[in-house]
Amino acid sequence: MRVLVTGTAGMLAKDLVPLFAEGGYEVIAPPEDMLDITHLDTVRSVVESCEPEMITNCAAYTQVDQAESEEHQALMVNGFGVQNLCLVCQERDIPLVHFSTDYIFDGTKKGPYTIYDAPNPVGAYGRSKLLGEKYILWLLNRFYLIRTTWMFGTHGRNFIDTMLEIGRRQNKISVVNDQRGCPTWTRHLAEAVIALIRTGHYGVYHVTSSEPVTWFEFAREIFHLSGMDIELVPVTSDQFPTPARRPLNSVLDPFPLPQLLGREMPSWREGLREHLKQRGVVK
Ligand SMILES: NC(=O)c1ccc[n+]([C@@H]2O[C@H](COP(=O)([O-])OP(=O)(O)OC[C@H]3O[C@@H](n4cnc5c(N)ncnc54)[C@H](OP(=O)(O)O)[C@@H]3O)[C@@H](O)[C@H]2O)c1
Repeated sequence: MRVLVTGTAGMLAKDLVPLFAEGGYEVIAPPEDMLDITHLDTVRSVVESCEPEMITNCAAYTQVDQAESEEHQALMVNGFGVQNLCLVCQERDIPLVHFSTDYIFDGTKKGPYTIYDAPNPVGAYGRSKLLGEKYILWLLNRFYLIRTTWMFGTHGRNFIDTMLEIGRRQNKISVVNDQRGCPTWTRHLAEAVIALIRTGHYGVYHVTSSEPVTWFEFAREIFHLSGMDIELVPVTSDQFPTPARRPLNSVLDPFPLPQLLGREMPSWREGLREHLKQRGVVK
């Protein structure tokens, strides 16, 4: 199957593209300057020239804090860019694989968010991602709408690398302890996405690692595995203000993914260990 991937310089795409290729897919992965998803004509002409049988959208505006002051830019990419992809998928009758986020929820629920819980984003990034979701639901019959959380991967800046960097400069770090979620290794996510696509069961899915933690608990494990002696101080989100509010509860209920794939998602601990190995921090 021929798959066109967008946003190919991004963290997730860098893992997904080689895995598609390993899985026998013919992958077309143009650089972003050749495929800006906010331009419908560009999307149309790229699709006309390579005739994909599926589009996988890894392109996104992902600057959560910056989105608060430039909501229109976020909406252009995460909302209207996705609309463009939907229109072209519709015209050519091909499915779309798309990624969304826990930020479409307000994080006030007690317990994990299910695929049938009502979204209610608390920030501009979440609102822009929700608009993208809506276009998919409004316009397409065949899609995999995959919500994930707290991603970390080899090819992008992430919480683990930030912690290690700060830990090399100072031995006491304050980390938020009232936001709970599932750190998800991009490689595990990419593997699950490809397995999901093979099932042919279109729909909305929650694909994250298992074993929810707070950022503080995650940081503790990062430094423990790295053998770094850092004093961690748990703080609340209120003590650590950011331009964008984050949901306190980012835990997504995976049902019905494990039933469909016949397995649970791996714990973030496995991904963390692999990530630290790749960074040369542990053997
Ligand atoms: N990272 C997370 O923790 C997380 C959590 C939940 C869900 N997600 C979702 O997962 C998906 C992948 O995230 P990621 O972390 O891999 O993102 P990423 O590293 O920021 O990659 C997104 C890529 O899209 C590119 N892009 C931006 N505007 C574009 C446009 N108009 N046309 C084409 N490409 C464009 C970006 O280029 P520039 O860098 O040049 O702008 C970047 O290379 C996104 O949908 C994101 O919302 C991510």
